[in-house]
Amino acid sequence: MTYRYRIALIPGDGIGTEVLPPACAVLDAIGRRHGIEFSYDEFDWSCQRYAAEGAMMPADGLDRIRHHDAILLGAVGWHGVPDHVSLWGLLIPIRREFRQYINLRPIKVLDGVPSPLRPEVIGEGVDMVIVRENNEGEYSEIGGRVHRGAAEEIAVQESVFTRTGVTRVLDYAFNLAAARSGKLVSATKSNGIIHTMTFWDEMVAERAGQHAGVEWRQEHIDALAAKMVMNPASFDVIVGSNLFGDILSDLAAGVAGSIGVAPSANLNPEREFPSMFEPVHGSAPDIAGQGVANPLGAIWSTSMMLDHLGHPEAGAEVLDAAFGALTKTRTRDLGGTAGTEEFTHAVLARLDARVGIA
Ligand code: IPM
Ligand code: MN
Repeated sequence: MTYRYRIALIPGDGIGTEVLPPACAVLDAIGRRHGIEFSYDEFDWSCQRYAAEGAMMPADGLDRIRHHDAILLGAVGWHGVPDHVSLWGLLIPIRREFRQYINLRPIKVLDGVPSPLRPEVIGEGVDMVIVRENNEGEYSEIGGRVHRGAAEEIAVQESVFTRTGVTRVLDYAFNLAAARSGKLVSATKSNGIIHTMTFWDEMVAERAGQHAGVEWRQEHIDALAAKMVMNPASFDVIVGSNLFGDILSDLAAGVAGSIGVAPSANLNPEREFPSMFEPVHGSAPDIAGQGVANPLGAIWSTSMMLDHLGHPEAGAEVLDAAFGALTKTRTRDLGGTAGTEEFTHAVLARLDARVGIA
Protein backbone atom coordinates (compact mmCIF):
# COMPACT_ATOMS: atom_id res chain seq x y z
CA MET A 1 0.00 0.00 0.00
CA THR A 2 1.22 3.48 -0.84
CA TYR A 3 0.26 6.43 1.32
CA ARG A 4 0.02 9.72 -0.54
CA TYR A 5 0.15 13.17 0.96
CA ARG A 6 -0.07 16.61 -0.55
CA ILE A 7 2.08 19.07 1.30
CA ALA A 8 1.80 22.85 1.01
CA LEU A 9 5.28 24.37 1.13
CA ILE A 10 5.67 27.95 2.29
CA PRO A 11 9.41 28.65 2.40
CA GLY A 12 8.76 32.31 3.28
CA ASP A 13 11.78 34.50 3.96
CA GLY A 14 15.51 34.30 4.57
CA ILE A 15 16.82 30.90 5.61
CA GLY A 16 13.27 29.55 5.44
CA THR A 17 13.94 29.08 1.73
CA GLU A 18 17.19 27.22 2.51
CA VAL A 19 15.89 24.74 5.06
CA LEU A 20 12.78 23.49 3.26
CA PRO A 21 14.59 21.75 0.36
CA PRO A 22 16.55 19.64 2.89
CA ALA A 23 13.31 18.87 4.73
CA CYS A 24 11.67 17.68 1.49
CA ALA A 25 14.73 15.61 0.55
CA VAL A 26 14.49 13.86 3.90
CA LEU A 27 10.75 13.29 3.48
CA ASP A 28 11.29 11.79 0.04
CA ALA A 29 14.04 9.49 1.33
CA ILE A 30 12.05 8.25 4.31
CA GLY A 31 8.96 7.99 2.12
CA ARG A 32 10.72 5.56 -0.23
CA ARG A 33 11.44 3.31 2.71
CA HIS A 34 7.91 3.39 4.12
CA GLY A 35 5.76 3.47 1.02
CA ILE A 36 4.82 7.11 1.43
CA GLU A 37 4.66 9.49 -1.52
CA PHE A 38 4.75 13.20 -0.95
CA SER A 39 3.72 15.74 -3.54
CA TYR A 40 4.46 19.39 -2.95
CA ASP A 41 2.75 22.61 -3.92
CA GLU A 42 4.97 25.58 -3.29
CA PHE A 43 3.63 29.03 -2.43
CA ASP A 44 5.78 32.17 -2.68
CA TRP A 45 4.04 33.91 0.22
CA SER A 46 6.68 36.10 1.81
CA CYS A 47 7.87 39.62 2.52
CA GLN A 48 9.15 39.72 -1.06
CA ARG A 49 5.62 39.12 -2.25
CA TYR A 50 4.43 41.82 0.15
CA ALA A 51 6.87 44.30 -1.38
CA ALA A 52 5.70 43.44 -4.90
CA GLU A 53 1.97 42.98 -4.34
CA GLY A 54 1.10 44.58 -1.02
CA ALA A 55 0.07 41.36 0.73
CA MET A 56 1.91 38.42 2.25
CA MET A 57 -0.49 35.99 0.62
CA PRO A 58 -3.39 36.28 -1.80
CA ALA A 59 -6.87 37.02 -0.47
CA ASP A 60 -7.89 33.39 -1.04
CA GLY A 61 -4.56 32.05 0.28
CA LEU A 62 -6.03 29.98 3.08
CA ASP A 63 -8.50 28.35 0.71
CA ARG A 64 -5.62 27.29 -1.51
CA ILE A 65 -4.02 25.25 1.26
CA ARG A 66 -7.11 24.22 3.23
CA HIS A 67 -7.27 20.79 1.65
CA HIS A 68 -3.61 19.89 1.83
CA ASP A 69 -2.61 17.15 4.24
CA ALA A 70 -0.05 19.34 5.99
CA ILE A 71 1.85 22.60 5.66
CA LEU A 72 5.62 22.98 5.91
CA LEU A 73 6.69 26.52 6.63
CA GLY A 74 10.24 27.90 6.61
CA ALA A 75 10.27 31.33 8.25
CA VAL A 76 8.50 34.67 8.03
CA GLY A 77 9.98 38.14 8.40
CA TRP A 78 12.36 40.41 6.51
CA HIS A 79 13.72 43.93 6.55
CA GLY A 80 11.37 46.54 5.21
CA VAL A 81 8.18 44.86 6.36
CA PRO A 82 7.28 45.44 10.02
CA ASP A 83 7.17 42.10 11.85
CA HIS A 84 3.60 42.53 13.00
CA VAL A 85 2.55 43.08 9.38
CA SER A 86 4.37 40.03 7.99
CA LEU A 87 3.40 37.70 10.82
CA TRP A 88 -0.22 38.78 11.09
CA GLY A 89 -0.43 38.57 7.30
CA LEU A 90 0.69 34.96 7.05
CA LEU A 91 1.76 32.83 10.00
CA ILE A 92 -0.80 33.87 12.57
CA PRO A 93 -3.86 33.66 10.26
CA ILE A 94 -2.84 30.11 9.34
CA ARG A 95 -2.49 29.12 12.99
CA ARG A 96 -5.87 30.61 13.83
CA GLU A 97 -8.06 29.92 10.81
CA PHE A 98 -6.94 26.30 10.80
CA ARG A 99 -7.51 26.00 14.55
CA GLN A 100 -3.95 24.92 15.16
CA TYR A 101 -4.42 25.51 18.83
CA ILE A 102 -1.55 23.32 19.99
CA ASN A 103 1.99 24.46 19.38
CA LEU A 104 4.19 21.52 20.30
CA ARG A 105 7.85 22.32 20.86
CA PRO A 106 10.10 19.48 21.92
CA ILE A 107 13.71 20.13 22.79
CA LYS A 108 16.64 17.92 23.75
CA VAL A 109 20.25 18.36 24.61
CA LEU A 110 21.72 16.28 21.80
CA ASP A 111 24.93 14.30 21.55
CA GLY A 112 27.45 16.43 19.74
CA VAL A 113 25.68 19.70 20.46
CA PRO A 114 27.35 21.55 23.29
CA SER A 115 24.92 23.14 25.71
CA PRO A 116 26.08 26.46 27.15
CA LEU A 117 25.35 24.93 30.57
CA ARG A 118 27.89 22.88 32.51
CA PRO A 119 27.66 19.09 32.13
CA GLU A 120 26.77 18.66 35.79
CA VAL A 121 23.77 20.95 35.27
CA ILE A 122 22.63 18.93 32.26
CA GLY A 123 23.02 15.76 34.34
CA GLU A 124 21.29 12.71 32.90
CA GLY A 125 20.06 14.72 29.96
CA VAL A 126 17.43 17.23 28.97
CA ASP A 127 14.41 16.08 27.00
CA MET A 128 11.30 18.19 27.32
CA VAL A 129 8.25 19.32 25.44
CA ILE A 130 6.60 22.68 25.67
CA VAL A 131 2.89 22.67 24.92
CA ARG A 132 2.07 26.21 23.92
CA GLU A 133 -1.48 27.51 23.51
CA ASN A 134 -1.47 28.79 19.94
CA ASN A 135 -4.77 30.52 19.19
CA GLU A 136 -5.58 32.99 21.96
CA GLY A 137 -4.12 34.36 25.18
CA GLU A 138 -1.83 37.36 25.02
CA TYR A 139 -1.72 37.31 21.19
CA SER A 140 -5.04 39.01 20.71
CA GLU A 141 -6.37 41.52 18.26
CA ILE A 142 -8.49 43.18 20.89
CA GLY A 143 -7.25 46.56 21.95
CA GLY A 144 -6.26 49.83 20.44
CA ARG A 145 -4.41 53.08 20.61
CA VAL A 146 -5.80 56.53 21.27
CA HIS A 147 -4.29 60.00 21.27
CA ARG A 148 -1.37 58.86 19.13
CA GLY A 149 1.72 60.91 19.76
CA ALA A 150 0.11 63.02 22.49
CA ALA A 151 1.25 63.06 26.11
CA GLU A 152 -1.93 61.24 27.11
CA GLU A 153 -1.48 58.48 24.52
CA ILE A 154 -2.87 55.11 25.59
CA ALA A 155 -2.23 51.63 24.26
CA VAL A 156 -4.47 48.78 25.45
CA GLN A 157 -4.19 45.12 24.56
CA GLU A 158 -6.58 42.56 26.00
CA SER A 159 -5.58 39.00 26.75
CA VAL A 160 -8.24 36.47 25.87
CA PHE A 161 -8.54 33.19 27.75
CA THR A 162 -11.61 31.11 27.00
CA ARG A 163 -12.81 28.03 28.85
CA THR A 164 -12.84 26.13 25.57
CA GLY A 165 -9.37 27.27 24.58
CA VAL A 166 -7.76 26.63 27.93
CA THR A 167 -9.48 23.28 28.45
CA ARG A 168 -8.32 21.86 25.14
CA VAL A 169 -4.68 22.85 25.54
CA LEU A 170 -4.57 21.57 29.11
CA ASP A 171 -6.16 18.26 28.18
CA TYR A 172 -3.65 17.86 25.37
CA ALA A 173 -0.79 18.54 27.78
CA PHE A 174 -2.13 16.20 30.48
CA ASN A 175 -2.52 13.43 27.90
CA LEU A 176 0.98 14.01 26.57
CA ALA A 177 2.40 13.98 30.10
CA ALA A 178 0.53 10.71 30.79
CA ALA A 179 2.15 9.20 27.69
CA ARG A 180 5.62 10.37 28.75
CA SER A 181 6.88 10.72 32.33
CA GLY A 182 3.52 11.32 33.99
CA LYS A 183 4.68 14.77 35.09
CA LEU A 184 3.35 18.16 34.05
CA VAL A 185 4.33 21.69 34.97
CA SER A 186 1.95 24.58 34.27
CA ALA A 187 3.46 28.01 33.67
CA THR A 188 1.51 30.74 35.41
CA LYS A 189 1.83 34.25 36.79
CA SER A 190 -1.28 34.44 38.89
CA ASN A 191 0.55 36.33 41.62
CA GLY A 192 0.67 39.36 39.32
CA ILE A 193 -1.92 38.79 36.60
CA ILE A 194 -4.98 38.29 38.70
CA HIS A 195 -7.80 37.58 36.25
CA THR A 196 -6.58 35.48 33.35
CA MET A 197 -3.87 33.62 35.22
CA THR A 198 -6.00 32.74 38.22
CA PHE A 199 -8.53 31.42 35.70
CA TRP A 200 -5.74 29.41 34.05
CA ASP A 201 -4.72 27.95 37.44
CA GLU A 202 -8.29 27.01 38.31
CA MET A 203 -8.66 25.32 34.95
CA VAL A 204 -5.44 23.35 35.51
CA ALA A 205 -6.74 22.11 38.85
CA GLU A 206 -10.09 21.26 37.27
CA ARG A 207 -8.60 19.35 34.32
CA ALA A 208 -6.17 17.55 36.63
CA GLY A 209 -9.22 15.86 38.09
CA GLN A 210 -9.77 14.18 34.72
CA HIS A 211 -6.15 13.01 34.49
CA ALA A 212 -5.63 11.39 37.85
CA GLY A 213 -2.43 9.58 36.86
CA VAL A 214 -0.51 12.76 36.13
CA GLU A 215 1.54 14.45 38.82
CA TRP A 216 1.34 18.19 38.24
CA ARG A 217 2.45 21.43 39.73
CA GLN A 218 2.36 25.06 38.75
CA GLU A 219 5.26 27.48 38.72
CA HIS A 220 5.31 31.20 38.21
CA ILE A 221 6.93 31.97 34.89
CA ASP A 222 9.78 34.01 36.37
CA ALA A 223 10.91 31.30 38.78
CA LEU A 224 10.26 28.67 36.11
CA ALA A 225 12.60 30.49 33.72
CA ALA A 226 15.35 30.42 36.35
CA LYS A 227 14.80 26.72 37.07
CA MET A 228 14.88 25.88 33.42
CA VAL A 229 18.41 27.22 33.33
CA MET A 230 19.54 25.89 36.70
CA ASN A 231 17.91 22.46 36.57
CA PRO A 232 16.65 21.79 33.05
CA ALA A 233 16.75 18.01 33.50
CA SER A 234 13.92 18.24 36.04
CA PHE A 235 11.35 19.17 33.39
CA ASP A 236 9.37 16.98 31.05
CA VAL A 237 6.08 18.43 29.78
CA ILE A 238 5.42 22.11 30.37
CA VAL A 239 2.15 23.78 29.40
CA GLY A 240 1.83 27.50 28.98
CA SER A 241 -0.18 30.28 27.45
CA ASN A 242 0.68 31.64 24.01
CA LEU A 243 3.25 34.15 25.25
CA PHE A 244 4.72 32.07 28.06
CA GLY A 245 5.07 29.07 25.75
CA ASP A 246 6.74 31.25 23.15
CA ILE A 247 9.35 32.56 25.56
CA LEU A 248 9.98 29.23 27.27
CA SER A 249 10.53 27.48 23.97
CA ASP A 250 13.34 29.85 22.96
CA LEU A 251 14.80 29.57 26.44
CA ALA A 252 14.73 25.78 26.18
CA ALA A 253 16.36 25.92 22.75
CA GLY A 254 19.07 28.13 24.24
CA VAL A 255 19.65 25.51 26.95
CA ALA A 256 20.00 22.91 24.19
CA GLY A 257 22.71 24.97 22.55
CA SER A 258 21.06 26.49 19.48
CA ILE A 259 17.72 27.74 18.33
CA GLY A 260 18.70 26.20 14.97
CA VAL A 261 17.79 22.71 16.17
CA ALA A 262 14.33 23.50 17.58
CA PRO A 263 11.25 22.19 15.74
CA SER A 264 7.58 22.93 16.15
CA ALA A 265 4.22 21.52 15.21
CA ASN A 266 1.15 23.73 15.00
CA LEU A 267 -1.53 21.11 15.44
CA ASN A 268 -5.22 20.94 14.76
CA PRO A 269 -5.72 17.73 16.72
CA GLU A 270 -9.22 17.17 15.31
CA ARG A 271 -7.72 17.12 11.80
CA GLU A 272 -10.47 19.34 10.42
CA PHE A 273 -7.72 21.49 8.93
CA PRO A 274 -4.13 20.90 7.92
CA SER A 275 -1.53 21.19 10.64
CA MET A 276 1.63 23.20 10.06
CA PHE A 277 5.22 22.25 10.81
CA GLU A 278 8.00 24.82 11.07
CA PRO A 279 11.42 25.26 12.61
CA VAL A 280 11.49 27.76 15.47
CA HIS A 281 14.56 29.69 14.27
CA GLY A 282 13.01 32.34 12.03
CA SER A 283 14.40 33.93 8.87
CA ALA A 284 17.87 34.83 10.29
CA PRO A 285 18.79 37.71 7.93
CA ASP A 286 22.36 37.72 9.32
CA ILE A 287 23.19 34.34 7.76
CA ALA A 288 20.62 34.12 4.96
CA GLY A 289 21.83 33.33 1.46
CA GLN A 290 25.15 31.88 2.58
CA GLY A 291 24.24 28.20 2.58
CA VAL A 292 25.11 27.83 6.24
CA ALA A 293 21.66 27.56 7.83
CA ASN A 294 21.09 24.60 10.10
CA PRO A 295 18.32 22.47 8.54
CA LEU A 296 17.89 20.35 11.67
CA GLY A 297 14.95 22.36 13.01
CA ALA A 298 13.15 21.86 9.70
CA ILE A 299 14.11 18.18 9.49
CA TRP A 300 12.99 17.54 13.06
CA SER A 301 9.72 19.30 12.14
CA THR A 302 9.19 16.78 9.30
CA SER A 303 9.55 14.02 11.86
CA MET A 304 6.72 15.64 13.84
CA MET A 305 4.74 15.83 10.61
CA LEU A 306 5.24 12.11 10.04
CA ASP A 307 4.03 11.41 13.59
CA HIS A 308 0.95 13.53 12.98
CA LEU A 309 0.20 11.83 9.66
CA GLY A 310 0.28 8.47 11.42
CA HIS A 311 3.80 7.27 10.62
CA PRO A 312 5.62 7.38 13.95
CA GLU A 313 8.20 4.74 12.93
CA ALA A 314 9.16 6.85 9.94
CA GLY A 315 9.30 9.91 12.20
CA ALA A 316 11.59 8.09 14.63
CA GLU A 317 13.91 7.00 11.81
CA VAL A 318 14.25 10.59 10.62
CA LEU A 319 15.25 11.63 14.12
CA ASP A 320 17.71 8.74 14.46
CA ALA A 321 19.34 9.73 11.18
CA ALA A 322 19.43 13.44 12.00
CA PHE A 323 20.71 13.02 15.57
CA GLY A 324 23.19 10.40 14.40
CA ALA A 325 24.52 12.72 11.70
CA LEU A 326 25.06 15.40 14.34
CA THR A 327 27.64 13.34 16.16
CA LYS A 328 29.98 13.76 13.16
CA THR A 329 28.71 16.67 11.09
CA ARG A 330 27.64 19.98 12.51
CA THR A 331 26.68 23.36 11.15
CA ARG A 332 28.34 26.53 12.39
CA ASP A 333 25.69 27.45 14.93
CA LEU A 334 26.70 24.20 16.67
CA GLY A 335 30.41 24.90 16.50
CA GLY A 336 30.95 22.84 13.33
CA THR A 337 32.03 23.78 9.83
CA ALA A 338 29.36 22.11 7.68
CA GLY A 339 27.01 24.04 5.43
CA THR A 340 23.32 23.27 4.97
CA GLU A 341 23.99 20.86 2.13
CA GLU A 342 26.72 18.92 3.84
CA PHE A 343 24.62 18.32 6.93
CA THR A 344 21.62 17.34 4.79
CA HIS A 345 23.77 14.84 2.89
CA ALA A 346 24.96 13.37 6.17
CA VAL A 347 21.34 12.79 7.20
CA LEU A 348 20.37 11.38 3.80
CA ALA A 349 23.37 9.04 3.85
CA ARG A 350 22.13 7.59 7.11
CA LEU A 351 18.62 7.17 5.76
CA ASP A 352 19.89 5.44 2.63
CA ALA A 353 22.05 3.22 4.79
CA ARG A 354 18.86 2.23 6.57
CA VAL A 355 17.15 1.55 3.26
CA GLY A 356 20.08 -0.79 2.51
CA ILE A 357 19.59 -2.72 5.74
CA ALA A 358 15.86 -3.23 5.27
C1 IPM B 1 7.33 31.76 17.12
C2 IPM B 1 7.57 33.18 16.74
C3 IPM B 1 6.25 33.88 16.47
C4 IPM B 1 5.40 33.74 17.69
C5 IPM B 1 6.37 35.33 16.09
C6 IPM B 1 7.31 35.51 14.92
C7 IPM B 1 5.04 35.99 15.88
O1 IPM B 1 8.32 33.83 17.71
O2 IPM B 1 6.73 31.01 16.35
O3 IPM B 1 7.74 31.38 18.23
O4 IPM B 1 5.61 34.44 18.68
O5 IPM B 1 4.50 32.91 17.69
MN1 MN C 1 9.02 32.54 19.29
